[in-house]
Amino acid sequence: MIVLDDRLAAVEEMVRPGVRVADVGTDHGYLIASLLQSGKAVFGYACDIHRQPLEKAAETLEKYGLTQRVQLLLGDGLKGLASQQVDDVIIAGMGGDMILHILDEARWEIPTQRFILQPMTKVHELRAGLYQRGYEILQERAAQAKGFVYTVMQVRWSGEQKTVADLFARVGLLPQDPSPAALAYLNRQADSVRAIGAGLEKSNTNRDKTEKYYRLAEEIEEICRKCEEKG
Ligand SMILES: C[S@@+](CC[C@H](N)C(=O)[O-])C[C@H]1O[C@@H](n2cnc3c(N)ncnc32)[C@H](O)[C@@H]1O
Repeated sequence: MIVLDDRLAAVEEMVRPGVRVADVGTDHGYLIASLLQSGKAVFGYACDIHRQPLEKAAETLEKYGLTQRVQLLLGDGLKGLASQQVDDVIIAGMGGDMILHILDEARWEIPTQRFILQPMTKVHELRAGLYQRGYEILQERAAQAKGFVYTVMQVRWSGEQKTVADLFARVGLLPQDPSPAALAYLNRQADSVRAIGAGLEKSNTNRDKTEKYYRLAEEIEEICRKCEEKG
């Protein structure tokens, strides 16, 4: 059996059972192989923009005897796939801006589909950008692996475009996640927002902006305190 680290295991957990899944940026192919091996996914599309990772994925799938249940696709994002072929889409291990680019190019605006997103960077921009485009986050949880803490979200298209508050863009639904990983994530958010405020204060650029970041850091710190109290 394939053993995934906690980050990829959290992604796998958010995939709905019995789906046809597309793994965009499949790289080593472990995630899609695990989804097929466990029976959670019935068919898979392993997509990557580069040939070399796709070759690695092909090796993984062959090793586990899964070749017949996966189609390999070379290309940018979801290109080469029609929305009717897929139920759940995974985009993991990429920057928030790249994830938005992939969603924008595809424009699969189908409320029954789910996108499982695991951004590595620009996470607040991703949350804000999703709502601006008419997506909503249905579930979110944190995961820790190799000393880093990540967030994983399950998203769907609702068609309702919204501007979210800065606080929501920074924390998403993680205040609802009672795990130690979520608390670690929120503490890191508070630290990074406070550091932005301190940087602005030092450069003496914009007092209002500086105060905005300090207030935001305080709000996140307050959420952390409440999470700690709940234990
Ligand atoms: C850091 S790896 C992440 C691998 C895996 N998804 C994970 O989370 O462990 C990123 C992969 O995404 C691929 N990639 C980057 N941009 C892409 C795009 N626009 N469309 C498809 N694949 C892309 C890269 O070639 C690479 O294999």
